[in-house]
Amino acid sequence: MPSGPSASADDANAGGLTAFRGEILDFIGDPATLGDAAHRHFPDGVLVVRDGRVAALGPAASTLSALPAGATVIDYRGKLILPGFVDTHVHFAQTDVIASYGAQLLEWLERYTFPAEARFADPGHAHEVAEFFIAELLRNGTTTAMVFATTHVSSVDAIFEAARVRAMRLIAGKVLMDRNVPETVRDTADSGFADSKALIGKWHGRDRLGYAVTPRFAPTSTERQLELCGRLLDEHPGVFLQSHVAENRGEVAWVAELFPWSRSYLDVYDHYGLLRERSVFAHCIHLDPTDRQRMAATGAAMSFCATSNLFLGSGLFDAKAAHEAGVRVGLGTDVGGGTSLSMLRTLDESYKVCQLAGQSLSPLRSFYLATLGGAAALYLDDRIGNFDVGREADFVVLDPGSTPLMARRMARAERLEERLFAFMILGDDRAVHATHILGTRAHVRDGT
Ligand code: GUN
Ligand code: ZN
Repeated sequence: MPSGPSASADDANAGGLTAFRGEILDFIGDPATLGDAAHRHFPDGVLVVRDGRVAALGPAASTLSALPAGATVIDYRGKLILPGFVDTHVHFAQTDVIASYGAQLLEWLERYTFPAEARFADPGHAHEVAEFFIAELLRNGTTTAMVFATTHVSSVDAIFEAARVRAMRLIAGKVLMDRNVPETVRDTADSGFADSKALIGKWHGRDRLGYAVTPRFAPTSTERQLELCGRLLDEHPGVFLQSHVAENRGEVAWVAELFPWSRSYLDVYDHYGLLRERSVFAHCIHLDPTDRQRMAATGAAMSFCATSNLFLGSGLFDAKAAHEAGVRVGLGTDVGGGTSLSMLRTLDESYKVCQLAGQSLSPLRSFYLATLGGAAALYLDDRIGNFDVGREADFVVLDPGSTPLMARRMARAERLEERLFAFMILGDDRAVHATHILGTRAHVRDGT
């Protein structure tokens, strides 16, 4: 017989067989395409984990009785178990830049961001911030992220090492910028190429880590550097690319001056062969239909960064146009332009951005984007993002009683969609009861 529901989450053993009982929700597709067939919901469900992977998922009644004798059952009844959140765009080196007042993108970069990133020449500082940042991701239920480091190689080592010791799936890369930035954060086309190559060799495919070639954005790279980015991708199949595009009108005008031959901002990246599968572009606000078609045709993905777009006054992401064009979309917190590492806060602001654009982001689609949608944007949906048997068992446990106000609202929410909506509109890190990596508990709120 399985042990009783009093077993503690600390009994979970990634090497053995552990069952997690609670309300469970995951997605097998996009609700905007599949409707109600896109999600699986077990009001009283069980997720069975063996060796860090999903071994079974189903209703408690039948799944518990099929467990072998001695299996541990962790009781999360009264809480909601979801696949871990996927943050498709964030800068760990901007942890201390968050909440910097009063500027739009280009001035904000000069005034706050480049000075903060220059400090990452110090490996000790990089290590301290990386540790804090990864702990914050886990506190917020984020189990996978695509992360900008800085120009400095040691900043990349620091973030990968902090993820590796926690067995997290994480993608990161050294920022490439060889012009239009202070010398403290500048590289050269050749040094950036050589450093990226060495970092790919050291980190890509090690444990659960992946490398992303990381040109910051077109204005801070010479044409030679962008060309070498394409070469890195050609020489290392499976490596990712991350950058920014079409975030701010001043930035778009600057790109038109620097690359007078380009049809559009996105066309600069296209010219150098940077639109591909596993390429993720943050923001994608000031695009035209041809740009969206190129992203869909090449398999490149967009990262919708709502809190950042509002905070920096950049503009409104067009989620409907992206979906209709067939582009992959994930969500990004974009800290420090973004104002929170919480995907719940990010969903709240995403909903409001869509409202301002005359669109509606449903609760089910919201949680799809935060989980399987993000995994698909990163081409990792064969490994993470839902609870299919064999998937890596990264998950988050949400507490509907996390604040008095949330508890009160939840008591009046009957349908799943209503409760999801309350989580995303009222929730933050306090709503994350626990975060599990490969089945093992990596965070529990208040140590309870
Ligand atoms: N564009 C180029 N660099 C950055 C950055 O660090 N943050 C944001 N939001 N946009 C950028
Ligand atoms: Zn960014």
